[in-house]
Amino acid sequence: MSTPGTITASHPPGTRAPGRPPGRSQASPPLSTSTTSRPPGRSQASSTPAARAALAGRSTAIEAELRRAPQSFRILTGDRPTGPLHLGHYFGSLQNRVRLQDLGADVLVLVADYQVITDRDAGAGLAAVVLDLVADNLAAGLDPARTTIFAHSQVSALNQLMLPFLSLLSVAEVGRNPTVKEEFSASGAAAMSALMFTYPVHQAADILACRANLVPVGMDQLPHVELTRTIARRFNQRYSPQQEFFQPPDPLLGSVPLLLGLDGQKMSKSRANAIPLAATEDETARLLRGARTDAQRHISYEPARRPEVANLVLLAALCQGRAPADVAAEIGRGGAARLKAVATESVNEHLRPVRARRRELAADRPYLQAVLRDGNDKAAALAEGTLRCVRELMHTTY
Ligand code: TRP
Repeated sequence: MSTPGTITASHPPGTRAPGRPPGRSQASPPLSTSTTSRPPGRSQASSTPAARAALAGRSTAIEAELRRAPQSFRILTGDRPTGPLHLGHYFGSLQNRVRLQDLGADVLVLVADYQVITDRDAGAGLAAVVLDLVADNLAAGLDPARTTIFAHSQVSALNQLMLPFLSLLSVAEVGRNPTVKEEFSASGAAAMSALMFTYPVHQAADILACRANLVPVGMDQLPHVELTRTIARRFNQRYSPQQEFFQPPDPLLGSVPLLLGLDGQKMSKSRANAIPLAATEDETARLLRGARTDAQRHISYEPARRPEVANLVLLAALCQGRAPADVAAEIGRGGAARLKAVATESVNEHLRPVRARRRELAADRPYLQAVLRDGNDKAAALAEGTLRCVRELMHTTY
């Protein structure tokens, strides 16, 4: 097993006695005041304007702390390997991962392969999708010498933590998780897998196995972080009442507005409305030519009134590193054709080096496998350290 070089020296994995987890000291107030009798959920985490404002404020405070003391953060993010990553991922999360890495935080990126089988068979193609995901992350700028990329099916200790965690929750509580609830009403109890039912708990195991204290997420994942916080608190209450063992992690909300797909709906692998990061320049041009716009000739940036047009303006602006309103003003009366041409050129220009790197990486499967194996080893060392402490705290050491 390799030495965990990316893990900050102040809290090497596997050496920690039960006690305080790595990360910030008590500086920050808890995100919410939920008690153990209150289930997590959208209503609590993000639905009211006041709750959203509190979250945004909390994220601003964390950003300041990240710049001040980046090494006090261990950050876990991840994706389900269900297909190639697209520009929504690139601007919404990949760039942010690279930024956090470059700030000096300890970043772990999870390839959540066990989350794939919540609603489909793994299939023979999964390995290729997993390695493509590694290539996407590296091409975007993640450095395997600093950032740990791993797949959770390869980290036994992480998966074992799910059992004690499940014991800390009631079936009703898990069933109140908004994603689980949506899946339940979409597929019904007979068709939904039991792994789908428990997947937010598995996600909590991902986070707590790594002792991550910060989880960059979109709004839809907030209830999962809230559930993780509940599990951390309950574990502490039950098994480590004198001294906090698991630090309840904070979510970190992104600052980039959501990119829509080519049809104006949320950009998504399954909706066939995405521009893959790995698309060629010609494919990008073709996809953007087919993007929905409106009949007004004058181009403006009005996300609420003209979402499709605003989305293309935003895409061009993100690539150019400029304000969307300026990009729109420059196009002026150029109409949709000019807008699409500008967006295409901006995307292709901005992504040229990323795509070139990605092509090189994709041609070197053994390298991608080596990166992943090394990441798996580092994550396993971390998770085994956590599990060792958990066993001691639970008195299951014989
Ligand atoms: N559920 C996340 C998604 O669908 C992926 C994920 C799994 C994750 N485990 C995680 C994200 C832990 C952050 C932390 O995108």
